[in-house]
Amino acid sequence: MCGIVGYIGKGKKALNVLIDGLKHLEYRGYDSAGVAYIKDNKLFIEKATGRIINLEKKINYEHKSNLGIGHTRWATHGGVTKANSHPHSSEKVTIVHNGIIENYIELKDKLLKKGYKFKSETDTEVAAVLLNDLYKEDNNVLKAIEKFKKEAKGAYAIAIICEDDLNTLYAIKKNSPLIIGLGKEENYIASDVPAIISYTNKYITLDDGSYAKITKDTVEVYDANNEPVKLKIKTYEGTSEAISKCGYDHYMLKEINEQPDVIKRTSESIKVPDLSKYKRIVIVACGSAMHAGLVGKNLIETYGDLPVEVEIASEFRYKKLFLNKSDLVIAISQSGETADTLEAVKIAKKQGIKTLGIINVKESSIAREVDEVIYTVAGPEIAVATTKAYSAQVLVLSYIAYSLSKNKNKEIENFITDVKKLPNNMQEVLSNEKEYENIAKKIHKKANMFYIGRSIDYALGMEGSLKIKEISYLHSEAYAAGELKHGTISLIEKDTPVIGIVTDKSIADKTISNLKEVTSRGANVIYLTTNKLVKEGDFYNEKILIPEVNPLLEPLVSIIPLQLIAYHVAKLNKCDIDKPKNLAKSVTVE
Ligand code: G6P
Repeated sequence: MCGIVGYIGKGKKALNVLIDGLKHLEYRGYDSAGVAYIKDNKLFIEKATGRIINLEKKINYEHKSNLGIGHTRWATHGGVTKANSHPHSSEKVTIVHNGIIENYIELKDKLLKKGYKFKSETDTEVAAVLLNDLYKEDNNVLKAIEKFKKEAKGAYAIAIICEDDLNTLYAIKKNSPLIIGLGKEENYIASDVPAIISYTNKYITLDDGSYAKITKDTVEVYDANNEPVKLKIKTYEGTSEAISKCGYDHYMLKEINEQPDVIKRTSESIKVPDLSKYKRIVIVACGSAMHAGLVGKNLIETYGDLPVEVEIASEFRYKKLFLNKSDLVIAISQSGETADTLEAVKIAKKQGIKTLGIINVKESSIAREVDEVIYTVAGPEIAVATTKAYSAQVLVLSYIAYSLSKNKNKEIENFITDVKKLPNNMQEVLSNEKEYENIAKKIHKKANMFYIGRSIDYALGMEGSLKIKEISYLHSEAYAAGELKHGTISLIEKDTPVIGIVTDKSIADKTISNLKEVTSRGANVIYLTTNKLVKEGDFYNEKILIPEVNPLLEPLVSIIPLQLIAYHVAKLNKCDIDKPKNLAKSVTVE
C-alpha cells in the first residue's frame, strides 16, 4: 500500500508530475499525502491529511522545481496525522516509503541512544534517520543505501533526496513495487507505470534488493549484491485512456461495463498449460481473488474432477502445510503485489511445489515469482473494489476446469463457442442496470443483509456480500443456504434483505426451500436465478433473471447484478465508491 512517485528533469515542473502521479496512485491509499521538492537549492515539504485534493490546496504551483518526491499514504504505523504523513526528513536526507520496516523499534532505540529525535510514530521516519546517520559516515548516498539494506528488515520501496546532491534522485526496492520511468532529459520513479504513463511508456523494473541512482540523463541500477546491472528497458502497452473514467461517474461502473470486453480479450490470450499430472490444486489468494478461487474450486472439482483447496494466503503462510509434490499451487492476484499471496508462493516453492499465477499486472512481483503465469487481460483496474479483474480470474479458472475435464459432458461440450457468446450474454445483463438500481433503492437503508446460496452460488454470494461491505459499509453476510438455520437465521427480521442465488441446477430446489424458511420469517427475498431454472411461488419478493449459459461460464453472468446492486446501494448512500474508507487496492503489507 502507499504510492510513491518521483521526478527529476528539465522539461516539466516537478510539482505537476508529482500531484498528477499521486492522483493515479491514490488507489494505493489515501489517508494523507505529501511532497518534497527542491526550489532554488532549498527543500520544501508540503503535507496534508485526507485526499490528494487537500494537499493540492496547499501547493504553490508557481514553484518551479526539477526534483521532487511524493507520497500517498495508507496508514500502518501511527495514526492519520500530518506528523505521520510522508515525506520524512532527517537533516540532509528526505524520503518517501511504501512498505514496513519490521525492525524499526530496535533501529529507533539505537538511533535514540545516538541522540536523534523523532517527530512521528512511523517506521518511515526511522528509515530516514537511519539513512541520514549512515550517510554521514562517508557522505555517500550509495554507500549509505548498501549499509541500510543490511540493517533494515521488511519491505520497502523508498525514494530519497539528499540535500548535498540536488541533481540526483535515489531509490531502493525490496518486496514493495517500484519502477523507473525513462524520459528525455528527465526520469521518473513510481509505484506503478500507469502513474507516469502520460509522460513515458518506457520503464525498467527493479528486482528485490536493488537500488538506483537517477539523474535527468542517467540511470544507474545496482543489484542485491551491489553490482551494477545492465538496464532492460520495457515498453508499457496500456494507454492513458485505460486509466480515465471515459464519461462514467465512477471507475467502478466503467470497470463493471468493461467486463464483456475483458472476457473477450482474456479468452483470446489464454493458453492453459497441461495440468493433468497434478493430483490436487491448492489456490492461495486474498479478498475477491480468493472468492474467485472458491468459484474455481467448484468448477474444477465438478467438471475437472480434481480436488481443490482454497487457502486465504495470510493463513496459509503461517499454518502447518501438507503439500505434496503432485500438488499445484495456484496464486490468484490482480495486482501481483499482495504481500501474503507473494509469500505463500515463496513458501510453496521452497517446499519444491510447482506454482502457477493468475495475474493481471504484467511483470509484477508474483508474476515474476511463479513458475508459470496466465495473465488476465483486464487492463488497469482503478476502483479499489475489484470487478473486471475478478471476472477475468474466474474465466481463467473455468478454462482450467474445462482443460482438465476428461469427459466433456453435454452441458459443457460447447465451452469454446459459448465463451465467444459470453460477452453478449453479459451485455444483456448489464443493460438491465435500472432493475438493479430499483432493488438498491429498496434495500440501501437497511443495516443488515444476507446472501445465501449453495455450492457455486454460495461462492458467488461471498463476493456479492464483500462488494456491498467494501463500498457501501452496509453490514452483510454470505451464508451457505443450508447452514443459515443453525444460528444465523435468528438475525432475520421483517424486511431484512436476503439475496438468494439459485443458478446451480443440481441444488436449486434445496436453496428454494431455504428461501421459504427466511420468507416465512419476514425477509425481503431477492431471488436471482436463470431464465430456464426459474420457479414461481411465494418464496420471494423481487426476482432477477439472468440468461442460462454454459455452467462453466454462468458465474460470470450471475456476478453482474450483484456488482451493480452494490454499486447503486453505495451511490444512494453517497459513499466514496472508488475509494472506500479504510481500504487500499494493493495490499503490500501482511
Ligand atoms: C485488496 C483489494 C481487493 C482484492 C485483494 C487482493 O483487499 O481491495 O479488491 O481482492 O486486495 O488483491 P490482489 O491484487 O492480490 O488480487
